[in-house]
Amino acid sequence: MMLSHRVGRVCHVLVLVLCLSAAEDFDWSANNHDSFYYGTFPNGFSWGAGGSAYQTEGAWDKDGKGLSIWDVFTHKKGKTFLNDTGDSSCDGYYKIKDDILLMKELNLNHYRFSISWPRIMPTGIKSDHVNEKGLKYYDVLIDELLENRITPIVTLYHWDLPQVLQEKYGGWQNISMINYFNDFANLCFERYGDRVKYWITFNNPWSVAVEGYETGEHAPGLKLRGTGAYRAAHHIIKAHAKVWHTYDSQWRSKQKGMVGISLYGDWGEPVDITNQKDIEAAERYVQFYIGWFATPIFHGDYPHVMKDFIGRKSTQQGLGTSRLPSFSSQEKSYIKGTCDFLGVGHFTTRYVTQKSFPSNRGNTYFSDRDIAELVDPRWPDPGSEWLYSVPWGFRRMLNFIKTQYGNPMIFITENGVSEKIMCTELCDVWRIQYYKDYINEMLKAIRDGVNVKGYTAWSLLDKFEWDEGYSERFGLFYVDFKNKNKPRYPKASVQFYKRIINSNGFPNQREVENWKSKATETCSTSNQLLAADPLTSHMEMVTEVVVPTVCTLCILISAVFLMILLRKRN
Ligand code: NOJ
Repeated sequence: MMLSHRVGRVCHVLVLVLCLSAAEDFDWSANNHDSFYYGTFPNGFSWGAGGSAYQTEGAWDKDGKGLSIWDVFTHKKGKTFLNDTGDSSCDGYYKIKDDILLMKELNLNHYRFSISWPRIMPTGIKSDHVNEKGLKYYDVLIDELLENRITPIVTLYHWDLPQVLQEKYGGWQNISMINYFNDFANLCFERYGDRVKYWITFNNPWSVAVEGYETGEHAPGLKLRGTGAYRAAHHIIKAHAKVWHTYDSQWRSKQKGMVGISLYGDWGEPVDITNQKDIEAAERYVQFYIGWFATPIFHGDYPHVMKDFIGRKSTQQGLGTSRLPSFSSQEKSYIKGTCDFLGVGHFTTRYVTQKSFPSNRGNTYFSDRDIAELVDPRWPDPGSEWLYSVPWGFRRMLNFIKTQYGNPMIFITENGVSEKIMCTELCDVWRIQYYKDYINEMLKAIRDGVNVKGYTAWSLLDKFEWDEGYSERFGLFYVDFKNKNKPRYPKASVQFYKRIINSNGFPNQREVENWKSKATETCSTSNQLLAADPLTSHMEMVTEVVVPTVCTLCILISAVFLMILLRKRN
Protein backbone atom coordinates (compact mmCIF):
# COMPACT_ATOMS: atom_id res chain seq x y z
CA MET A 1 0.00 0.00 0.00
CA MET A 2 2.76 2.39 1.11
CA LEU A 3 4.88 1.41 -1.89
CA SER A 4 2.11 1.92 -4.43
CA HIS A 5 1.31 5.25 -2.79
CA ARG A 6 4.95 6.33 -3.18
CA VAL A 7 5.11 5.09 -6.77
CA GLY A 8 1.89 7.00 -7.40
CA ARG A 9 3.40 10.21 -6.01
CA VAL A 10 6.62 9.78 -8.01
CA CYS A 11 4.54 9.30 -11.15
CA HIS A 12 2.45 12.34 -10.31
CA VAL A 13 5.59 14.50 -9.87
CA LEU A 14 7.04 13.06 -13.08
CA VAL A 15 3.91 13.91 -15.02
CA LEU A 16 3.94 17.43 -13.58
CA VAL A 17 7.60 17.92 -14.51
CA LEU A 18 6.91 16.63 -18.01
CA CYS A 19 3.91 18.93 -18.39
CA LEU A 20 5.92 21.92 -17.28
CA SER A 21 8.89 21.29 -19.49
CA ALA A 22 7.30 19.80 -22.60
CA ALA A 23 6.02 22.15 -25.24
CA GLU A 24 2.40 21.98 -26.20
CA ASP A 25 1.87 19.86 -29.29
CA PHE A 26 1.55 21.56 -32.62
CA ASP A 27 -1.22 20.10 -34.73
CA TRP A 28 0.45 19.28 -38.04
CA SER A 29 -2.72 17.83 -39.51
CA ALA A 30 -4.82 20.99 -39.23
CA ASN A 31 -3.83 23.30 -42.04
CA ASN A 32 -6.71 25.71 -42.36
CA HIS A 33 -6.88 27.68 -45.57
CA ASP A 34 -9.78 29.83 -44.38
CA SER A 35 -11.14 32.61 -46.52
CA PHE A 36 -10.19 36.25 -45.92
CA TYR A 37 -11.12 37.45 -42.43
CA TYR A 38 -12.55 40.94 -42.01
CA GLY A 39 -11.83 42.35 -38.60
CA THR A 40 -9.47 44.54 -36.64
CA PHE A 41 -6.37 44.10 -34.48
CA PRO A 42 -6.34 44.47 -30.71
CA ASN A 43 -6.16 48.05 -29.41
CA GLY A 44 -2.61 49.29 -29.11
CA PHE A 45 -1.29 46.99 -31.82
CA SER A 46 1.92 48.60 -33.12
CA TRP A 47 2.43 49.17 -36.85
CA GLY A 48 5.91 49.82 -38.17
CA ALA A 49 8.49 49.54 -40.90
CA GLY A 50 12.19 48.82 -40.76
CA GLY A 51 15.65 48.89 -42.21
CA SER A 52 19.20 48.26 -41.03
CA ALA A 53 22.42 50.25 -40.78
CA TYR A 54 24.54 48.72 -43.53
CA GLN A 55 21.57 48.38 -45.87
CA THR A 56 20.51 52.04 -45.69
CA GLU A 57 22.96 54.44 -44.00
CA GLY A 58 25.76 54.73 -46.55
CA ALA A 59 28.52 57.05 -45.19
CA TRP A 60 30.66 53.94 -44.85
CA ASP A 61 33.86 55.86 -44.07
CA LYS A 62 32.50 59.13 -42.70
CA ASP A 63 32.91 60.85 -39.33
CA GLY A 64 35.32 58.33 -37.85
CA LYS A 65 33.39 55.14 -38.62
CA GLY A 66 35.51 51.96 -38.62
CA LEU A 67 35.29 49.22 -41.23
CA SER A 68 32.75 46.46 -40.91
CA ILE A 69 33.05 42.99 -42.42
CA TRP A 70 30.47 44.08 -45.01
CA ASP A 71 32.60 47.07 -46.11
CA VAL A 72 35.50 44.74 -46.72
CA PHE A 73 33.44 41.94 -48.26
CA THR A 74 31.64 44.17 -50.76
CA HIS A 75 34.88 45.84 -51.83
CA LYS A 76 36.20 42.48 -53.04
CA LYS A 77 35.30 41.64 -56.62
CA GLY A 78 32.63 39.04 -57.33
CA LYS A 79 30.94 38.94 -53.93
CA THR A 80 27.76 40.85 -54.74
CA PHE A 81 25.51 41.40 -57.75
CA LEU A 82 27.36 43.77 -60.13
CA ASN A 83 29.90 44.31 -57.31
CA ASP A 84 27.40 46.63 -55.62
CA THR A 85 28.38 47.99 -52.21
CA GLY A 86 26.59 49.78 -49.37
CA ASP A 87 29.07 52.69 -49.54
CA SER A 88 26.35 55.26 -50.05
CA SER A 89 23.19 53.11 -50.37
CA CYS A 90 20.15 55.29 -49.47
CA ASP A 91 22.37 57.91 -47.76
CA GLY A 92 20.14 57.50 -44.73
CA TYR A 93 22.95 58.91 -42.60
CA TYR A 94 22.19 62.33 -44.08
CA LYS A 95 18.43 61.98 -44.38
CA ILE A 96 17.02 61.48 -40.92
CA LYS A 97 14.41 64.21 -41.29
CA ASP A 98 13.36 63.21 -44.81
CA ASP A 99 12.89 59.60 -43.80
CA ILE A 100 10.91 60.47 -40.72
CA LEU A 101 8.57 62.43 -42.97
CA LEU A 102 7.99 59.22 -44.91
CA MET A 103 7.23 57.37 -41.69
CA LYS A 104 4.77 60.13 -40.76
CA GLU A 105 3.14 59.79 -44.14
CA LEU A 106 2.50 56.14 -43.28
CA ASN A 107 1.35 56.95 -39.75
CA LEU A 108 3.79 54.46 -38.27
CA ASN A 109 3.81 53.67 -34.55
CA HIS A 110 7.34 52.29 -34.60
CA TYR A 111 10.47 52.24 -36.70
CA ARG A 112 13.00 49.43 -36.52
CA PHE A 113 16.63 50.24 -37.29
CA SER A 114 20.04 48.91 -36.27
CA ILE A 115 23.14 50.50 -34.78
CA SER A 116 26.36 50.04 -36.70
CA TRP A 117 28.87 48.73 -34.16
CA PRO A 118 31.95 50.09 -36.01
CA ARG A 119 30.30 53.51 -36.36
CA ILE A 120 30.37 53.94 -32.62
CA MET A 121 33.34 51.67 -31.78
CA PRO A 122 35.61 51.73 -34.84
CA THR A 123 37.61 48.61 -33.93
CA GLY A 124 34.77 46.97 -32.03
CA ILE A 125 36.76 47.23 -28.81
CA LYS A 126 35.59 49.80 -26.30
CA SER A 127 38.98 50.41 -24.71
CA ASP A 128 40.46 51.26 -28.15
CA HIS A 129 38.17 54.15 -29.02
CA VAL A 130 34.59 55.32 -28.82
CA ASN A 131 33.45 57.53 -31.70
CA GLU A 132 31.39 60.43 -30.37
CA LYS A 133 30.23 61.53 -33.83
CA GLY A 134 28.79 58.08 -34.47
CA LEU A 135 27.06 58.06 -31.10
CA LYS A 136 25.61 61.47 -31.86
CA TYR A 137 24.06 60.28 -35.12
CA TYR A 138 21.91 57.71 -33.29
CA ASP A 139 21.10 60.27 -30.58
CA VAL A 140 19.63 62.54 -33.21
CA LEU A 141 17.77 59.72 -34.94
CA ILE A 142 16.21 58.52 -31.67
CA ASP A 143 15.27 62.04 -30.57
CA GLU A 144 13.69 62.89 -33.91
CA LEU A 145 11.68 59.68 -33.88
CA LEU A 146 10.40 60.33 -30.38
CA GLU A 147 9.52 63.93 -31.20
CA ASN A 148 7.38 62.54 -33.97
CA ARG A 149 5.85 59.96 -31.63
CA ILE A 150 7.45 57.02 -33.39
CA THR A 151 8.80 54.33 -31.07
CA PRO A 152 12.35 53.22 -31.89
CA ILE A 153 12.94 49.45 -31.94
CA VAL A 154 16.68 49.06 -31.99
CA THR A 155 18.71 46.11 -33.20
CA LEU A 156 22.25 45.88 -31.88
CA TYR A 157 23.61 43.47 -34.45
CA HIS A 158 22.35 43.45 -38.01
CA TRP A 159 25.42 41.68 -39.44
CA ASP A 160 28.02 44.49 -39.55
CA LEU A 161 30.75 43.15 -37.27
CA PRO A 162 33.80 45.42 -36.93
CA GLN A 163 36.45 44.15 -39.36
CA VAL A 164 39.17 44.29 -36.70
CA LEU A 165 37.33 41.66 -34.66
CA GLN A 166 37.14 39.44 -37.71
CA GLU A 167 40.80 39.82 -38.53
CA LYS A 168 42.12 39.51 -35.00
CA TYR A 169 39.89 36.73 -33.70
CA GLY A 170 37.96 35.14 -36.56
CA GLY A 171 34.69 36.89 -35.68
CA TRP A 172 31.87 34.69 -34.38
CA GLN A 173 34.08 31.60 -34.54
CA ASN A 174 35.76 33.00 -31.45
CA ILE A 175 34.37 32.97 -27.94
CA SER A 176 35.88 36.39 -27.18
CA MET A 177 33.12 38.01 -29.28
CA ILE A 178 30.76 37.46 -26.35
CA ASN A 179 32.50 40.01 -24.13
CA TYR A 180 33.18 42.49 -26.92
CA PHE A 181 29.54 42.38 -27.95
CA ASN A 182 28.45 42.78 -24.36
CA ASP A 183 30.62 45.92 -23.99
CA PHE A 184 29.09 47.37 -27.12
CA ALA A 185 25.54 46.57 -25.98
CA ASN A 186 26.23 47.98 -22.55
CA LEU A 187 27.39 51.27 -24.05
CA CYS A 188 24.18 51.44 -26.10
CA PHE A 189 22.04 50.81 -23.01
CA GLU A 190 23.97 53.47 -21.12
CA ARG A 191 23.72 56.08 -23.86
CA TYR A 192 20.29 55.43 -25.37
CA GLY A 193 18.41 53.33 -22.81
CA ASP A 194 16.69 56.35 -21.28
CA ARG A 195 14.81 56.66 -24.60
CA VAL A 196 14.93 53.21 -26.21
CA LYS A 197 12.67 50.60 -24.61
CA TYR A 198 12.79 47.82 -27.18
CA TRP A 199 16.15 46.19 -27.82
CA ILE A 200 16.90 43.36 -30.21
CA THR A 201 20.27 41.73 -29.60
CA PHE A 202 20.70 39.90 -32.92
CA ASN A 203 18.92 40.07 -36.20
CA ASN A 204 18.53 36.73 -37.90
CA PRO A 205 21.47 34.81 -36.41
CA TRP A 206 20.60 31.93 -38.77
CA SER A 207 21.89 33.99 -41.69
CA VAL A 208 24.98 35.15 -39.82
CA ALA A 209 25.88 31.55 -39.04
CA VAL A 210 24.86 29.75 -42.25
CA GLU A 211 25.54 32.37 -44.92
CA GLY A 212 28.53 33.94 -43.16
CA TYR A 213 30.37 30.81 -41.99
CA GLU A 214 28.94 27.83 -43.88
CA THR A 215 28.19 28.84 -47.47
CA GLY A 216 30.22 32.06 -47.49
CA GLU A 217 27.61 33.95 -49.53
CA HIS A 218 27.63 36.68 -46.89
CA ALA A 219 30.43 38.44 -45.02
CA PRO A 220 32.88 37.33 -43.77
CA GLY A 221 32.56 34.78 -46.61
CA LEU A 222 33.90 31.70 -44.83
CA LYS A 223 33.07 28.19 -46.03
CA LEU A 224 33.60 26.12 -42.90
CA ARG A 225 31.14 23.44 -43.96
CA GLY A 226 29.51 21.31 -41.33
CA THR A 227 31.11 23.11 -38.38
CA GLY A 228 31.40 26.89 -38.89
CA ALA A 229 27.69 27.67 -38.64
CA TYR A 230 27.18 25.61 -35.47
CA ARG A 231 30.13 27.21 -33.76
CA ALA A 232 29.11 30.77 -34.75
CA ALA A 233 25.55 30.12 -33.57
CA HIS A 234 26.82 28.74 -30.26
CA HIS A 235 28.70 31.95 -29.51
CA ILE A 236 25.85 34.14 -30.70
CA ILE A 237 23.37 32.40 -28.39
CA LYS A 238 25.72 32.87 -25.44
CA ALA A 239 26.37 36.50 -26.39
CA HIS A 240 22.62 37.11 -26.57
CA ALA A 241 22.13 35.61 -23.12
CA LYS A 242 24.95 37.65 -21.65
CA VAL A 243 23.54 40.91 -23.00
CA TRP A 244 20.07 40.03 -21.70
CA HIS A 245 21.56 39.42 -18.23
CA THR A 246 23.51 42.69 -18.41
CA TYR A 247 20.31 44.56 -19.13
CA ASP A 248 18.40 42.62 -16.53
CA SER A 249 20.86 43.22 -13.73
CA GLN A 250 22.14 46.71 -14.54
CA TRP A 251 19.52 48.63 -16.49
CA ARG A 252 16.06 47.10 -16.30
CA SER A 253 14.95 48.61 -13.02
CA LYS A 254 16.00 52.13 -14.12
CA GLN A 255 15.09 52.01 -17.78
CA LYS A 256 12.14 49.62 -17.78
CA GLY A 257 12.72 48.35 -21.28
CA MET A 258 12.71 44.91 -22.89
CA VAL A 259 15.36 42.82 -24.60
CA GLY A 260 14.57 40.24 -27.25
CA ILE A 261 16.10 38.59 -30.27
CA SER A 262 14.87 38.58 -33.85
CA LEU A 263 14.75 35.09 -35.37
CA TYR A 264 14.16 34.36 -38.95
CA GLY A 265 12.30 31.32 -40.12
CA ASP A 266 10.66 30.07 -43.27
CA TRP A 267 7.77 27.72 -42.61
CA GLY A 268 8.14 24.03 -43.55
CA GLU A 269 4.93 22.23 -44.47
CA PRO A 270 4.87 18.41 -44.83
CA VAL A 271 4.30 17.43 -48.46
CA ASP A 272 1.68 14.98 -47.19
CA ILE A 273 0.18 15.86 -43.81
CA THR A 274 -1.01 12.30 -43.31
CA ASN A 275 2.51 10.88 -43.71
CA GLN A 276 4.49 10.65 -40.45
CA LYS A 277 7.86 10.76 -42.26
CA ASP A 278 6.90 14.00 -44.00
CA ILE A 279 5.71 15.51 -40.73
CA GLU A 280 9.01 14.62 -39.06
CA ALA A 281 10.96 16.06 -42.00
CA ALA A 282 8.98 19.32 -41.88
CA GLU A 283 9.50 19.57 -38.15
CA ARG A 284 13.25 19.06 -38.64
CA TYR A 285 13.25 21.86 -41.20
CA VAL A 286 11.65 24.25 -38.72
CA GLN A 287 13.78 23.08 -35.77
CA PHE A 288 17.00 23.56 -37.76
CA TYR A 289 15.78 27.07 -38.62
CA ILE A 290 14.06 28.94 -35.81
CA GLY A 291 14.28 26.11 -33.26
CA TRP A 292 18.10 26.14 -33.37
CA PHE A 293 18.03 29.50 -31.55
CA ALA A 294 14.60 29.62 -29.94
CA THR A 295 14.85 26.26 -28.13
CA PRO A 296 18.00 27.16 -26.14
CA ILE A 297 16.58 30.60 -25.37
CA PHE A 298 13.19 29.31 -24.20
CA HIS A 299 14.10 25.82 -22.94
CA GLY A 300 17.86 25.92 -22.30
CA ASP A 301 19.21 23.55 -24.95
CA TYR A 302 19.27 22.74 -28.67
CA PRO A 303 16.28 20.88 -30.15
CA HIS A 304 16.53 17.10 -29.58
CA VAL A 305 16.30 16.47 -33.26
CA MET A 306 19.39 18.61 -33.97
CA LYS A 307 21.37 16.87 -31.26
CA ASP A 308 20.28 13.45 -32.59
CA PHE A 309 20.92 14.06 -36.26
CA ILE A 310 24.18 16.00 -36.03
CA GLY A 311 25.47 13.71 -33.26
CA ARG A 312 24.73 10.54 -35.26
CA LYS A 313 26.25 11.92 -38.44
CA SER A 314 29.36 13.06 -36.57
CA THR A 315 29.82 9.51 -35.21
CA GLN A 316 29.37 8.07 -38.71
CA GLN A 317 32.14 10.41 -39.84
CA GLY A 318 34.38 8.94 -37.17
CA LEU A 319 34.42 12.07 -35.02
CA GLY A 320 34.75 11.68 -31.25
CA THR A 321 32.30 14.51 -30.49
CA SER A 322 29.34 16.04 -32.21
CA ARG A 323 29.90 18.91 -34.62
CA LEU A 324 27.05 20.60 -32.74
CA PRO A 325 28.68 22.08 -29.61
CA SER A 326 26.96 21.46 -26.27
CA PHE A 327 26.01 23.70 -23.37
CA SER A 328 27.08 22.90 -19.80
CA SER A 329 24.28 22.67 -17.27
CA GLN A 330 25.17 26.12 -15.88
CA GLU A 331 25.08 27.56 -19.36
CA LYS A 332 21.70 25.98 -19.97
CA SER A 333 20.12 27.64 -16.99
CA TYR A 334 21.89 30.93 -17.77
CA ILE A 335 20.52 30.96 -21.34
CA LYS A 336 17.01 29.69 -20.60
CA GLY A 337 14.43 32.47 -20.33
CA THR A 338 16.57 35.27 -21.75
CA CYS A 339 13.85 36.74 -23.92
CA ASP A 340 11.36 39.45 -22.98
CA PHE A 341 9.80 39.30 -26.43
CA LEU A 342 10.50 37.32 -29.56
CA GLY A 343 11.14 39.11 -32.84
CA VAL A 344 10.00 37.07 -35.83
CA GLY A 345 11.18 37.61 -39.39
CA HIS A 346 9.18 35.61 -41.91
CA PHE A 347 8.83 35.78 -45.68
CA THR A 348 8.04 32.41 -47.25
CA THR A 349 7.29 28.67 -47.04
CA ARG A 350 8.55 25.36 -48.43
CA TYR A 351 7.03 21.93 -48.77
CA VAL A 352 9.29 19.41 -47.10
CA THR A 353 9.82 15.67 -47.39
CA GLN A 354 12.34 13.14 -46.05
CA LYS A 355 15.56 12.63 -48.03
CA SER A 356 18.65 10.88 -46.67
CA PHE A 357 22.11 12.31 -47.21
CA PRO A 358 24.74 9.66 -46.47
CA SER A 359 27.63 10.93 -44.31
CA ASN A 360 30.36 9.61 -46.59
CA ARG A 361 29.78 12.46 -49.08
CA GLY A 362 30.75 15.12 -46.53
CA ASN A 363 28.42 16.83 -44.11
CA THR A 364 27.01 20.30 -44.22
CA TYR A 365 24.35 22.09 -42.23
CA PHE A 366 21.99 21.35 -45.14
CA SER A 367 22.74 17.65 -45.47
CA ASP A 368 22.56 17.19 -41.68
CA ARG A 369 18.79 17.76 -41.89
CA ASP A 370 18.00 14.84 -44.24
CA ILE A 371 15.24 16.65 -46.05
CA ALA A 372 14.27 17.84 -49.50
CA GLU A 373 12.51 21.17 -50.07
CA LEU A 374 9.86 21.70 -52.74
CA VAL A 375 7.73 24.58 -53.94
CA ASP A 376 4.34 24.70 -55.57
CA PRO A 377 4.78 26.22 -59.03
CA ARG A 378 1.45 28.02 -58.60
CA TRP A 379 2.82 30.11 -55.71
CA PRO A 380 3.43 33.71 -56.83
CA ASP A 381 7.12 34.70 -56.83
CA PRO A 382 7.38 38.30 -57.97
CA GLY A 383 10.84 39.10 -56.65
CA SER A 384 13.68 37.26 -54.98
CA GLU A 385 14.24 33.76 -56.26
CA TRP A 386 13.60 32.23 -52.83
CA LEU A 387 10.53 34.29 -51.98
CA TYR A 388 7.21 32.65 -52.83
CA SER A 389 4.06 34.19 -51.47
CA VAL A 390 2.39 31.57 -49.22
CA PRO A 391 0.34 33.55 -46.67
CA TRP A 392 -1.09 30.55 -44.76
CA GLY A 393 2.50 29.52 -43.87
CA PHE A 394 2.73 32.65 -41.71
CA ARG A 395 -0.22 31.61 -39.56
CA ARG A 396 1.19 28.07 -39.24
CA MET A 397 4.57 29.44 -38.21
CA LEU A 398 3.05 31.73 -35.57
CA ASN A 399 0.96 28.91 -34.12
CA PHE A 400 4.03 26.68 -34.03
CA ILE A 401 5.90 29.34 -32.02
CA LYS A 402 2.95 29.66 -29.66
CA THR A 403 2.83 25.95 -28.90
CA GLN A 404 6.60 25.36 -28.71
CA TYR A 405 7.76 28.30 -26.63
CA GLY A 406 4.91 28.93 -24.22
CA ASN A 407 3.05 31.63 -26.16
CA PRO A 408 5.71 34.37 -25.91
CA MET A 409 5.13 38.02 -26.70
CA ILE A 410 5.90 38.41 -30.41
CA PHE A 411 6.85 41.35 -32.58
CA ILE A 412 6.96 40.68 -36.29
CA THR A 413 10.30 42.28 -37.07
CA GLU A 414 10.37 41.59 -40.82
CA ASN A 415 7.76 40.66 -43.40
CA GLY A 416 7.47 41.83 -46.98
CA VAL A 417 8.22 41.09 -50.60
CA SER A 418 10.67 42.26 -53.24
CA GLU A 419 10.54 42.96 -56.94
CA LYS A 420 13.26 42.11 -59.34
CA ILE A 421 12.48 44.23 -62.33
CA MET A 422 15.26 46.66 -63.00
CA CYS A 423 13.02 49.31 -64.53
CA THR A 424 11.01 51.64 -62.34
CA GLU A 425 7.66 50.39 -61.09
CA LEU A 426 5.62 52.19 -58.50
CA CYS A 427 2.37 50.33 -59.14
CA ASP A 428 3.32 47.39 -56.94
CA VAL A 429 0.01 45.52 -56.95
CA TRP A 430 1.72 42.22 -56.06
CA ARG A 431 3.14 43.83 -52.90
CA ILE A 432 -0.33 45.11 -51.98
CA GLN A 433 -1.61 41.55 -52.40
CA TYR A 434 1.26 40.10 -50.34
CA TYR A 435 0.80 42.53 -47.45
CA LYS A 436 -2.97 42.15 -47.51
CA ASP A 437 -2.83 38.36 -47.33
CA TYR A 438 0.08 38.01 -44.89
CA ILE A 439 -1.30 40.62 -42.50
CA ASN A 440 -4.63 38.87 -42.67
CA GLU A 441 -3.07 35.52 -41.74
CA MET A 442 -1.38 37.27 -38.81
CA LEU A 443 -4.80 38.52 -37.73
CA LYS A 444 -6.13 34.94 -37.89
CA ALA A 445 -3.16 33.80 -35.80
CA ILE A 446 -4.01 36.40 -33.16
CA ARG A 447 -7.55 35.01 -33.14
CA ASP A 448 -5.99 31.56 -32.64
CA GLY A 449 -4.45 32.98 -29.46
CA VAL A 450 -0.93 33.87 -30.67
CA ASN A 451 0.40 36.85 -28.72
CA VAL A 452 1.51 39.20 -31.54
CA LYS A 453 1.93 42.79 -30.39
CA GLY A 454 3.32 44.52 -33.44
CA TYR A 455 4.13 44.24 -37.12
CA THR A 456 7.11 45.64 -39.05
CA ALA A 457 6.80 45.91 -42.81
CA TRP A 458 10.12 45.11 -44.46
CA SER A 459 11.26 47.53 -45.54
CA LEU A 460 10.61 51.27 -45.44
CA LEU A 461 12.97 51.92 -48.36
CA ASP A 462 14.53 50.02 -51.21
CA LYS A 463 18.06 49.33 -49.99
CA PHE A 464 21.21 47.29 -50.35
CA GLU A 465 20.15 43.63 -50.39
CA TRP A 466 23.40 41.97 -49.29
CA ASP A 467 24.82 39.62 -51.94
CA GLU A 468 21.95 40.61 -54.27
CA GLY A 469 23.15 44.23 -54.27
CA TYR A 470 20.46 46.64 -55.47
CA SER A 471 18.79 44.11 -57.74
CA GLU A 472 15.99 43.31 -55.29
CA ARG A 473 13.75 46.04 -54.02
CA PHE A 474 11.81 45.43 -50.78
CA GLY A 475 10.83 49.05 -50.11
CA LEU A 476 7.47 50.65 -49.61
CA PHE A 477 9.32 53.65 -51.00
CA TYR A 478 11.28 53.42 -54.23
CA VAL A 479 14.82 54.81 -54.06
CA ASP A 480 16.41 56.08 -57.24
CA PHE A 481 19.97 54.87 -56.61
CA LYS A 482 21.21 56.20 -59.94
CA ASN A 483 20.44 59.74 -58.90
CA LYS A 484 23.09 61.02 -56.52
CA ASN A 485 20.44 62.71 -54.34
CA LYS A 486 18.83 59.29 -53.77
CA PRO A 487 15.25 60.61 -54.03
CA ARG A 488 12.46 58.47 -52.55
CA TYR A 489 9.11 57.88 -54.31
CA PRO A 490 6.06 56.26 -52.70
CA LYS A 491 4.92 52.99 -54.27
CA ALA A 492 1.20 52.22 -54.37
CA SER A 493 1.65 49.89 -51.38
CA VAL A 494 2.31 52.96 -49.19
CA GLN A 495 -1.30 54.02 -49.67
CA PHE A 496 -2.54 50.52 -48.99
CA TYR A 497 -0.45 49.88 -45.87
CA LYS A 498 -1.40 53.29 -44.55
CA ARG A 499 -5.08 52.39 -44.80
CA ILE A 500 -4.54 49.13 -42.90
CA ILE A 501 -2.75 51.13 -40.21
CA ASN A 502 -5.44 53.80 -40.00
CA SER A 503 -8.21 51.22 -39.70
CA ASN A 504 -6.11 48.96 -37.46
CA GLY A 505 -6.98 46.06 -39.76
CA PHE A 506 -9.56 45.23 -42.36
CA PRO A 507 -12.98 46.75 -41.52
CA ASN A 508 -15.13 45.26 -44.30
CA GLN A 509 -14.93 43.87 -47.80
CA ARG A 510 -16.28 46.91 -49.63
CA GLU A 511 -13.85 49.28 -47.99
CA VAL A 512 -10.79 47.03 -48.39
CA GLU A 513 -11.52 46.50 -52.08
CA ASN A 514 -11.85 50.22 -52.50
CA TRP A 515 -8.40 50.71 -50.88
CA LYS A 516 -6.74 48.79 -53.64
CA SER A 517 -8.13 50.92 -56.44
CA LYS A 518 -7.47 54.10 -54.46
CA ALA A 519 -3.88 53.03 -53.83
CA THR A 520 -3.18 52.47 -57.51
CA GLU A 521 -4.93 55.66 -58.69
CA THR A 522 -1.89 57.91 -58.71
CA CYS A 523 0.97 55.48 -59.17
CA SER A 524 0.99 55.55 -62.96
CA THR A 525 1.38 59.35 -62.99
CA SER A 526 4.26 59.06 -60.50
CA ASN A 527 5.68 56.30 -62.67
CA GLN A 528 5.88 58.70 -65.60
CA LEU A 529 7.62 61.28 -63.43
CA LEU A 530 10.09 58.69 -62.27
CA ALA A 531 10.64 57.41 -65.80
CA ALA A 532 11.74 60.94 -66.69
CA ASP A 533 14.14 61.01 -63.77
CA PRO A 534 16.97 58.97 -65.25
CA LEU A 535 16.99 61.64 -68.01
CA THR A 536 17.36 64.37 -65.40
CA SER A 537 20.16 62.56 -63.60
CA HIS A 538 21.77 61.90 -66.95
CA MET A 539 21.52 65.61 -67.69
CA GLU A 540 23.30 66.30 -64.41
CA MET A 541 26.06 64.01 -65.50
CA VAL A 542 26.23 65.77 -68.85
CA THR A 543 26.49 69.12 -67.07
CA GLU A 544 29.36 67.75 -65.05
CA VAL A 545 31.19 66.86 -68.26
CA VAL A 546 30.04 69.71 -70.50
CA VAL A 547 30.55 72.69 -68.18
CA PRO A 548 34.24 72.02 -67.47
CA THR A 549 34.79 71.24 -71.16
CA VAL A 550 33.12 74.50 -72.26
CA CYS A 551 35.20 76.43 -69.70
CA THR A 552 38.43 74.85 -70.90
CA LEU A 553 37.47 75.63 -74.51
CA CYS A 554 36.74 79.26 -73.59
CA ILE A 555 40.14 79.60 -71.94
CA LEU A 556 41.84 78.02 -74.97
CA ILE A 557 40.00 80.27 -77.46
CA SER A 558 40.80 83.38 -75.40
CA ALA A 559 44.44 82.31 -75.31
CA VAL A 560 44.47 81.90 -79.12
CA PHE A 561 42.85 85.34 -79.57
CA LEU A 562 45.37 86.87 -77.21
CA MET A 563 48.25 85.33 -79.15
CA ILE A 564 46.85 86.64 -82.48
CA LEU A 565 46.40 90.10 -80.97
CA LEU A 566 49.95 90.14 -79.60
CA ARG A 567 51.38 88.98 -82.97
CA LYS A 568 49.46 91.76 -84.81
CA ARG A 569 50.94 94.36 -82.44
CA ASN A 570 54.45 93.10 -83.08
C1 NOJ B 1 16.44 39.13 -43.78
C2 NOJ B 1 17.45 40.19 -43.41
O1 NOJ B 1 17.45 40.34 -42.02
C3 NOJ B 1 17.21 41.53 -44.08
O2 NOJ B 1 18.29 42.35 -43.83
C4 NOJ B 1 16.93 41.35 -45.55
O3 NOJ B 1 16.69 42.60 -46.15
C5 NOJ B 1 15.75 40.42 -45.73
N1 NOJ B 1 16.07 39.12 -45.16
C6 NOJ B 1 15.36 40.21 -47.19
O4 NOJ B 1 16.35 39.51 -47.87
